[in-house]
Amino acid sequence: MLAIVGGSGLTQLSSLEVVRREVARTPYGEPSGALTFGRLCGGNVIFLARHGYGHTIPPHRVNYRANLWALKTAGAKNIVSVASVGGIRSDCAPGVLVAPDQILDYTWGRANTFFDGIDVPVRYIDFTRPYDEDLRRRILAAAHEVGEAVVDGAVYATTQGPRLETAAEIDRYERDGADVVGMTGMPEAALARELELPYAAINVVANYAAGREASTQGIRFERIEEVLQAAMLRVREVLACLCRQ
Ligand code: HPA
Repeated sequence: MLAIVGGSGLTQLSSLEVVRREVARTPYGEPSGALTFGRLCGGNVIFLARHGYGHTIPPHRVNYRANLWALKTAGAKNIVSVASVGGIRSDCAPGVLVAPDQILDYTWGRANTFFDGIDVPVRYIDFTRPYDEDLRRRILAAAHEVGEAVVDGAVYATTQGPRLETAAEIDRYERDGADVVGMTGMPEAALARELELPYAAINVVANYAAGREASTQGIRFERIEEVLQAAMLRVREVLACLCRQ
């Protein structure tokens, strides 16, 4: 079963035929909200709003461990993350969809492993390729089928937030190799790997990153809303096609 973790702009999946909602408890506490089980274009799907259904949980307070544990326990076999980002690379303009293939992690203080605690043996995971390549390919194929262009491959820099970045920080991330910047990619991707859940992402560029192009003088939040609203309609098409595959 496919699980979709929706970020800003995707707190619900309107095309989902909801079958039931389930409040899950985990050894790590409560997930961001009830798991929504439903059917999307004939496929079974679990949906979870990363920031809560009322969009009240900031990126650094999301209980990533509880979210992934609950999804795995509920039977998820693949996780698709939908998350908005700022665009650093010039082809990552507002409204563009991106399937990232690498991650940089600048977050701190987040519970970022399940292998933690006095009774828990230390375990390391291979994270050379943080996204599952088969799932990433399936996303790209679904997008192609519905005629949506998606940038194939980008380095996603995860920042702590919740504030947006300074222009100098964006310059630094670019020097480090980042193409897009967001606040929730980590530790979500690493925790999914620890649970051996294939994980991939569809990023929606909401704005040019700080100091770039139209964001040279600052970021306009009214514009972000508009961009996300329009782009999420296209993301829903891609997700629906992914479920039909
Ligand atoms: N920076 C970090 N996260 C984001 C941005 C950004 O500019 N836009 C949307 N999510």
